[in-house]
Amino acid sequence: MVTVTPSGAALGARVSDLDLNRLDDAMFAAVEAALHRHGVIALSDQHIDEDVLVAFSRRFGKLEINVTSAFQHPKHPELLILSNRTRDGKAVGLADAGQGWHADNSYNRLPGRASILYALEVPVRDGQVLGDTLFADMRVAYKALPDDVKQRIEGRLAVHDFAKFYDDMIKNKGSKRPPLTDTQRAARPPVQHPLVMRHPYTGDTCLYADPGYTTRILGLPEAESDQLLEFLFAHETRDAFIYRHKWRLHDILIWDNCSTIHMATGGYRPDEPRHMMRTQVQVDAARMQ
Ligand code: OGA
Ligand code: MN
Repeated sequence: MVTVTPSGAALGARVSDLDLNRLDDAMFAAVEAALHRHGVIALSDQHIDEDVLVAFSRRFGKLEINVTSAFQHPKHPELLILSNRTRDGKAVGLADAGQGWHADNSYNRLPGRASILYALEVPVRDGQVLGDTLFADMRVAYKALPDDVKQRIEGRLAVHDFAKFYDDMIKNKGSKRPPLTDTQRAARPPVQHPLVMRHPYTGDTCLYADPGYTTRILGLPEAESDQLLEFLFAHETRDAFIYRHKWRLHDILIWDNCSTIHMATGGYRPDEPRHMMRTQVQVDAARMQ
């Protein structure tokens, strides 16, 4: 029987006594229920190949193919390699994914439902695992908003733009990513989503604005939009809403991109390898009406 152990923080749980090589419908239902309840879950001690990871991911919905298209797995374009390893002097994966608060794929018309990240190598120094990932709960953050702010954001749409995060990584974080091409930009025009999202699977009310991609609240003067976003970004990343994931080797971490935002903390060196594979699941279009 699958065991679910809550983290004790606002969100997060660890799921054990489960082998994804032998997953039946009842076990999948237990995993999905744990994800909906806890926002982010770590499946312990998984030993699976790429085919199983992709097949498992597909059970949640349609998979995203990353727009920057570097570092896709040769056999499965839906699998992205996150890694600071090099081969023959060349990067084998994206080395600086997610180093700033964001919700994956909020820049798509169909936002991200979930992301699945499989840890094949985790950096360890002096017995301490490095490269934690932080998660913040957007259901709890919404509930904790002052009433007047809830009123100001109710029914409003916000703009999400893929280029915001990507350009910021190059401009302000020293990333060596190549600049986005015009074709890549054109493939991801800005989109709009409700600031107060009814979760497409659980019906929970979530604050849906993330510092990585959200650029503008529609219907407000620009200065007011900037100020309100600033307030929301500071509010939603308060300590009380955060779970810090300390990776274990062979964790498969699954997070809900409608009810959480996340951030990689980095802090490991190039000679301390971190190597992971990721899939991203889209929200089912039929649930977006
Ligand atoms: C991601 C991401 C965080 C990490 O893969 O979307 O943000 O810690 N990763 O690797
Ligand atoms: Mn991410």
